[in-house]
Amino acid sequence: MTQLSPLVLDDVGVVLDGRPIVRDVSFDVAPGQVVAILGANGSGKSTLIKALVGLNPVSHGTVSLFGTPQPRFRHWERVGYVPQRSNLGTGVPATVREVVASGRIARRRPFWPMSRHEHDLVEAAVDLVGLGGRAGHPVATLSGGQQQRVLVARTLAGEPDLLLLDEPNAGVDHASQVAIAETLGGRADAGASVVVVLHELGPFAPLIDRVVALREGRITYDGPPGQLAEGAAHAHHHDDLEEGGWLPPMQAPLEGGR
Ligand SMILES: Nc1ncnc2c1ncn2[C@@H]1O[C@H](COP(=O)(O)OP(=O)(O)OP(=O)(O)O)[C@@H](O)[C@H]1O
Ligand SMILES: [Mg+2]
Repeated sequence: MTQLSPLVLDDVGVVLDGRPIVRDVSFDVAPGQVVAILGANGSGKSTLIKALVGLNPVSHGTVSLFGTPQPRFRHWERVGYVPQRSNLGTGVPATVREVVASGRIARRRPFWPMSRHEHDLVEAAVDLVGLGGRAGHPVATLSGGQQQRVLVARTLAGEPDLLLLDEPNAGVDHASQVAIAETLGGRADAGASVVVVLHELGPFAPLIDRVVALREGRITYDGPPGQLAEGAAHAHHHDDLEEGGWLPPMQAPLEGGR
């Protein structure tokens, strides 16, 4: 039996306030594939990701999730979404552990206490993003970057088959970026698909099978990261990732952006 493609976009357009923000975007993601979405600020990356999960209208074309057109899709427990910036700090008294555990809700029978296995999953997800020592702390007391890590852990705890992450590395220290990248790689090895918006490939470079670059809402490049530009193929062997060493090779497909 052939596996259904977790995500197919066919000629997708998103119009916000009468302005076309995403235009003619078509691509499909295979099971286990890790796709990076790159593009300058304002190129429509977040708008596109939000449209995939129904937070923005799909004005044109179709999005299909696991073989079902998105408006009729019901198995949202199979999809994990990490938004670009968290607003967890606004008066939410929940602890880190509680927020991460909420990522299990769609997977659980309502009102049943969490099993030992589920507790372990939650604790592992919290540890993974480097917040093990803070599991009992209110999320409101964490920095923006730490809150971002809580959201990543929450999504991982749900064991989704399709992960959509919008700049999960923003404001996250290097060690946590590596930890997040390794876990996502593990999920991909287990068959999950990952679509991740990144500012630079950084610690994700070894995982990325494919890059889709956007400019003004349109795809300007879709292919292996190594062919983005001269030198990009071996950039991840260097130790300059912390300095954002991936940015220069990215200039080619993004040229003419802001
Ligand atoms: N809700 C909205 N209503 C109207 N316009 C919007 C809305 N959200 C985003 N836009 C516009 O859509 C364009 C693309 O924004 P988007 O946030 O998708 O870009 P991005 O590629 O994610 O940028 P960044 O790298 O800064 O996150 C911008 O011009 C933005 O002003
Ligand atoms: Mg964005």
